[in-house]
Amino acid sequence: MIGANDKVRIGIIGCGGIANGKHMPSLKRLDDVEMVAFCDIIVERAELAKQQYGTPDAAVYEDYKKLLEDESIDVVHVCTPNRSHSFITVDALNAGKHVMCEKPMAINSAEAKKMLDASKTSGKLLTIGYQNRQTPGAQYLKKEAEDGTFGDIYYAKALALRRRAVPTWGVFLNEYEQGGGPLIDIATHALDLTLWMMNNYKPKCCLGTAYHKLNNQTHTANAWGDWDPEKFTVEDCAFGFVVMENGATVSVESSWALNMLDTREATTVICGTKAGGDLINGVRINGVRNGRRYELYPNLEAGGVAFYDGVDNNDASLVDMRQWINAVKGMNAPCVLPEQAYTVTRILEGIYESAKSGTIYNF
Ligand SMILES: NC(=O)c1ccc[n+]([C@@H]2O[C@H](COP(=O)([O-])OP(=O)(O)OC[C@H]3O[C@@H](n4cnc5c(N)ncnc54)[C@H](O)[C@@H]3O)[C@@H](O)[C@H]2O)c1
Repeated sequence: MIGANDKVRIGIIGCGGIANGKHMPSLKRLDDVEMVAFCDIIVERAELAKQQYGTPDAAVYEDYKKLLEDESIDVVHVCTPNRSHSFITVDALNAGKHVMCEKPMAINSAEAKKMLDASKTSGKLLTIGYQNRQTPGAQYLKKEAEDGTFGDIYYAKALALRRRAVPTWGVFLNEYEQGGGPLIDIATHALDLTLWMMNNYKPKCCLGTAYHKLNNQTHTANAWGDWDPEKFTVEDCAFGFVVMENGATVSVESSWALNMLDTREATTVICGTKAGGDLINGVRINGVRNGRRYELYPNLEAGGVAFYDGVDNNDASLVDMRQWINAVKGMNAPCVLPEQAYTVTRILEGIYESAKSGTIYNF
């Protein structure tokens, strides 16, 4: 049992983009955490991470199994491409580590179920890196949902729409490694937010479509440079119409490349019997009061003077890591429960399966 004042010893597996962009810089800012081991199959990346973020005697590994042999490590962060999320997480949980695994939970529901089961049998915590829940806007909307502001939420949209932002590094375009394209990569965030706002994790059936329409094009004006059409084997956009057991509808829209101007990242729109809300341009809440329509735009800035934005923290990744480390110390539950991420995985899989078969997918 890790005490409230103890330092939590962390090992990082996969020292690429998200480890450097989110996990390691945020963990470094927490006083009660030390990063004591780093692993990457490209070992220079693990070395560099150790130099930048590790304790002076931190260990560096090429093989994650060796890192897991270190019994002094309490927590492992899995920051590798999607296919390896499941087997690394299962091994880490069975080695007695708490695990924060990057999104999506796994490449399919069978792999995600193994992770869920290993968490239960090992008694160790498992959470998934849906840091967007910790943005000030998402926190505000969730509080309104919990307070009953929206009434019965019966229609929602999970939006993850990019015009030309196909990730061209790593293995994002590779079906085998990733399990899919924008649907599994970015709609996973939007769907997580949407189900969380609805507090509804019971899907009944869905209809999906997925397209490979733009992936053969060149001179693409892509945010991260032209993609290689030969390597771009996943969909460039995918859409789903999901019906929940209670009759609610969730529309899922995702693209890395699509000819549209109204782009969105990790966005939800919820429509209830009493009011509606969304995360478009901050938070917007709408309804009818005193016989008039109203719109509410909460001010999410903390401070009020030009040079000081208050003590509230607007850094979602930092808040997410603080919340997670507190969970490891038994002070609160993890914000993202593995059962919730498992349902997100099942729905994304249902949309893919429906797109393949051309028929309705029943959960
Ligand atoms: N939460 C978010 O918003 C967010 C954003 C970007 C990426 N991600 C997720 O993070 C994961 C990694 O994405 P990325 O952009 O960092 O990719 P990346 O390619 O930049 O980094 C992945 C790293 O893992 C290493 N690796 C691969 N297999 C390994 C193994 N078996 N053992 C040890 N290291 C291994 C690679 O060498 C690489 O350095 C993906 O699942 C992605 O979906 C999440």
